[in-house]
Amino acid sequence: MVDKEKNSPTNAGMKRIGILTSGGDAPGMNAAVRAVVRKGVYHGLEVVGIKHGYAGLLREEMDLLDLGSVADIIQRGGTKLFTARCEEFKTPEGQQKGAEILRKHDIEALIVIGGDGSYRGARALSHLGINTIGLPGTIDNDIPGTDYTIGFDTAVNTVIEAIDKIRDTATSHERTYVVEVMGRNAGDIAMIAGLAGGAESILIPESPFDLDQVLVKLRKGVERGKRHSIILVAEGVGHGMEIGEKIAAETGWEVRVTVLGHLQRGGSPTAFDRILASRMGAMAVDLLLEGQTSKVVGIRGTKLIATDIDEILESKHEIDLSIYELAGILSI
Ligand code: ADP
Ligand code: F6P
Repeated sequence: MVDKEKNSPTNAGMKRIGILTSGGDAPGMNAAVRAVVRKGVYHGLEVVGIKHGYAGLLREEMDLLDLGSVADIIQRGGTKLFTARCEEFKTPEGQQKGAEILRKHDIEALIVIGGDGSYRGARALSHLGINTIGLPGTIDNDIPGTDYTIGFDTAVNTVIEAIDKIRDTATSHERTYVVEVMGRNAGDIAMIAGLAGGAESILIPESPFDLDQVLVKLRKGVERGKRHSIILVAEGVGHGMEIGEKIAAETGWEVRVTVLGHLQRGGSPTAFDRILASRMGAMAVDLLLEGQTSKVVGIRGTKLIATDIDEILESKHEIDLSIYELAGILSI
């Protein structure tokens, strides 16, 4: 039994917080929700789960969550709170309505799990007097202020599993495979999964490429005995199908294209994502108990940090191109 007195909130007076998931779902979001509820209850708070992101907020879709509400979800992908996109919340009227609804339900603070778009909504609420904390929940890893976003590691491992499977048939038929991966405008999934999966070539938006140069490298590989080539294409570069057709037309090789799509968004979160999400969720509660607002939790190395939301929204995600260069060297 938790001793309420010992664990009463340090921020005297705060009694009820809300949590929602927004934007593209990501494996690990449930682990973060679980951590917020368990840590919040531990500190004597009530935690209200808001369903379907900001759209659900405006429809007052909310339930009080207790310790049992988040049982058996740490291992599940997706989000038990559902998610949605909501154009109305991009308007001042929608944001005002959301703040009024939160106050009507005595929700004094809100934790938002999502990407930069969701953070803009959180910032708007903070300007309307609702303390807000953001957690980076997206497989794209494209949020500044953190080395990793919740869901990225799981998505990378999903892609690696796919590459390993494709490699078997590519070798058997001595074919060239183009694999298109998600990431919106970021190349992180393609770069990390490409290095780990041993892809012969990786195309990312952050590094302009010359298809002729790619073909020169692939031909050199074939000449030294490679029995297949796997080219990973980040969706921000273009359509894998079109790139595959170009390669086939230029080389006369048998080329097949696999677009991994939304399977990268599902699956049981890895240990890394479960731990990242649990730590970040717990920290979000601590920040609110300290009375903080308009902050976003991130990780640098193994250390959790909190950064002003304005700073995050004014920054740009930087990819570590030294990893990209290494992948290029190790795949010769
Ligand atoms: P992500 O959070 O993954 O970037 P989106 O960009 O789709 O996903 O944003 C998710 C939701 O956040 C949107 O449906 C909208 O409700 C809200 N949102 C996005 N941009 C803004 C904005 N500029 N102001 C207020 N709310 C926003
Ligand atoms: O932001 C996550 C993400 O999976 C991107 O990688 C992808 O481009 C986008 O969402 C797909 O959006 P939707 O699920 O709305 O098709």
